Amino acid sequence: MKAVRCTAYGNPEVLKLVEIPKPIPQSNELLIRIHATAVNSGDVRIRKADPWAVRLFFGFSKPRKAVLGGVFSGEVVEVGHAVRQFKVGDSVFGSTGMEFGAYAEFKAIKETATLALKPESLNHLEAATIPFGALTALDFIRKANIQAGQKVMIYGASGAVGSAAVQLALAFGAEVTAVCSGANMELMKKIGADKVINYQKENLSVNNEQYDVIYEAVNQLTFSESIEHLKKDGILILGAAGLAQMLRAGLARISGRKVLTGVIKESADGMNFIKGLIDQGKYQVVLDRIFTLDQIAEAHEYVDLGHKKGNVAVQVAPDAR
Ligand SMILES: NC(=O)c1ccc[n+]([C@@H]2O[C@H](COP(=O)([O-])OP(=O)(O)OC[C@H]3O[C@@H](n4cnc5c(N)ncnc54)[C@H](OP(=O)(O)O)[C@@H]3O)[C@@H](O)[C@H]2O)c1
Repeated sequence: MKAVRCTAYGNPEVLKLVEIPKPIPQSNELLIRIHATAVNSGDVRIRKADPWAVRLFFGFSKPRKAVLGGVFSGEVVEVGHAVRQFKVGDSVFGSTGMEFGAYAEFKAIKETATLALKPESLNHLEAATIPFGALTALDFIRKANIQAGQKVMIYGASGAVGSAAVQLALAFGAEVTAVCSGANMELMKKIGADKVINYQKENLSVNNEQYDVIYEAVNQLTFSESIEHLKKDGILILGAAGLAQMLRAGLARISGRKVLTGVIKESADGMNFIKGLIDQGKYQVVLDRIFTLDQIAEAHEYVDLGHKKGNVAVQVAPDAR
């Protein structure tokens, strides 16, 4: 099968389209023919070894899991004899988590992994864009226990995680202020944000608001700027924190502040929850550009710029649309 291997840490050119053996599913696994995947900030971080500590977990000189790609949408084409929840012909979407391997035509994955039936209203390209941002935002939003009527600010609202956080906070009944650049203000209104702040022109104090929850999705606000706009017992989510911010968060917790950070947990339950919202028309796809598997280096170059609008999908099978 065709797959894209990450041959070293570095620029997008380290990604090479190669032929590798098609996986054989174990008794508790599904074999998925991948129709579409996506290039997410997570893939880019591994490819670049950014932060450097990536090497400690994923391999010192190059990623041990050479085929990157953490999300997929596709069709079940084989099942192991112990599989009960899915059958051949099911359309499914989900996350491979730290296993990666979705930049490929096929992936074998446990039936208990982070996946669900694909919403019928979405094609595979659209569906592949959902898991990364939505599962990340959902985990933090559930931990923050966002309630109806709360005022929530999403900073960095136009990325994969930010656009998911806006929509999920709205689905939980919050009043949402989205912070993005001028170019993305219309997009924020389209996905339902109650208020939008253009960080290029306006000060965060423009609405004179104190928030119950601030979700800092892109690690661009200083800790003190965030705290300044948070209610005294409000919750600060540092969704993209590096080591320094994590230490800062630890200190803030000692002095009584509620700060959430760390690595998210994904689950099939989360996937089914998000599928439910999509089926009810409460969650929209935010799809920026589409590339093909042999253009994956270009897709990475685009994501590297740090200004994608929502998500970048990658077509793997010709019938993904
Ligand atoms: N904790 C976890 O387990 C976990 C899981 C997944 C992701 N993450 C982290 O979450 C972060 C966001 O991921 P993502 O996939 O959403 O990234 P992304 O899609 O690549 O983010 C791109 C967005 O960032 C916005 N942006 C760039 N500079 C900004 C600034 N100065 N102020 C406000 N917005 C700005 C851009 O909007 P403009 O063009 O409008 O500037 C663009 O829409 C990443 O650092 C990722 O590593 C953490």
